Amino acid sequence: MNGKILVTGGTGYIGSHTVVELLNAGYEVEILDNLFNSKIEVLDRIDRITGKKPKFYKADLLDRVALDDIFANTKYDSVIHFAGLKAVGESVQKPLEYYKNNVDGTINLLQSMQEHGVKKIIFSSSATVYGVQESPEYVETMTTGGQLSNPYGRTKYFIEEIMKDLCTADPEFQVALLRYFNPIGAHPSGLLGEDPNGIPNNLMPIVMQVARGQREKLGVYGNDYPTKDGTCRRDYIHVVDLAKGHMAMLDHMQPGVSIFNLGSGEPNSVMEIIAAFEKASGKELPYEVVARRAGDLPEFWANPAKAKAELSWQTELTIDDAMKDTLNFISHESKQ
Ligand code: NAD
Ligand code: WQD
Repeated sequence: MNGKILVTGGTGYIGSHTVVELLNAGYEVEILDNLFNSKIEVLDRIDRITGKKPKFYKADLLDRVALDDIFANTKYDSVIHFAGLKAVGESVQKPLEYYKNNVDGTINLLQSMQEHGVKKIIFSSSATVYGVQESPEYVETMTTGGQLSNPYGRTKYFIEEIMKDLCTADPEFQVALLRYFNPIGAHPSGLLGEDPNGIPNNLMPIVMQVARGQREKLGVYGNDYPTKDGTCRRDYIHVVDLAKGHMAMLDHMQPGVSIFNLGSGEPNSVMEIIAAFEKASGKELPYEVVARRAGDLPEFWANPAKAKAELSWQTELTIDDAMKDTLNFISHESKQ
């Protein structure tokens, strides 16, 4: 029998896909989310895919009393911590909101866990903590926290450091920092996908808006970068592969801090993403090259060797799979 897991942010994009993998593998799952950036309907979708509806707490990480109630109710083996604000541009406008939600929220969670004797946590970190490096192929041993271009990225860096300090102070803690690269795609059922509230910032949700006719065209942020086709290159990872990375991590938790990149190791340019989407849809995707976006790096990607060697995990799905699944999600949306 697998253990009981509390998933914060479990109705969100990556969280919901991970909950499906956990339930399918026989874990007992409970979800905590304040629904700031996700919808309650996700619980029914999870039920339709897995035949199981996880217990749901509509709660905010900033509400320490609510957290203590949840931990007093149930003895969890581990926590997977996805909950956080993630809009890079907004974090520049509202840094205090981001530090409060992400950093204070995580400290509340860790304090409540410690007081209730729950000492295993997997944290959604990000490639953004690497900042600017000499090599675009990021390895876990690189120094982090240098030249981070926005408060969102700094919240991830600060939380990583807080968790490292906690492991020094309390050697019973088992912390995994998973540094995600660029998650894309949707569940192959078409029932789950990226569905942010408000105005999206990331490439794929904007591509999806164009495909739905909600936006006239995609603005490509610059084509004069020192890359093969002049557009930025990123390591796009299918969200189902990413979800499975959490499963692999749960099997390899150990005392102290473990750090893993979760990426494919294969970067693609913005033009390659457009071409893959057009191939999958059979239609042209209207776009226009516009000015560079402040803070964008020309290219970076994961060195995924450590996750492969130690977690026996690697990506299996391609960007073509991600495009097909994204289109399937869009076509299901219109039928809901
Ligand atoms: P998401 O916005 O879809 O999911 C996050 C969830 O957390 C949402 O459902 C939101 O309602 C909830 N939440 C936010 N603040 C909360 C709070 N104070 N209390 C309770 N719930 C709260 O985002 P996602 O793309 O699924 O990302 C999940 C995690 O992975 C985030 O921590 C994000 O920073 C990190 N991450 C995301 C990416 C990416 O590109 N999507 C890349 C690297 C890391
Ligand atoms: C991808 C590429 C843009 C929108 C961010 C965070 C990172 C992580 C993932 C959480 C870039 C280009 C985008 C558009 C475009 N998140 N683009 N037109 O910037 O690589 O990473 O999300 O941790 O921390 O910084 O992702 O999806 O915003 O952009 O041309 O309208 O698409 O320039 O090259 P990014 P993104």
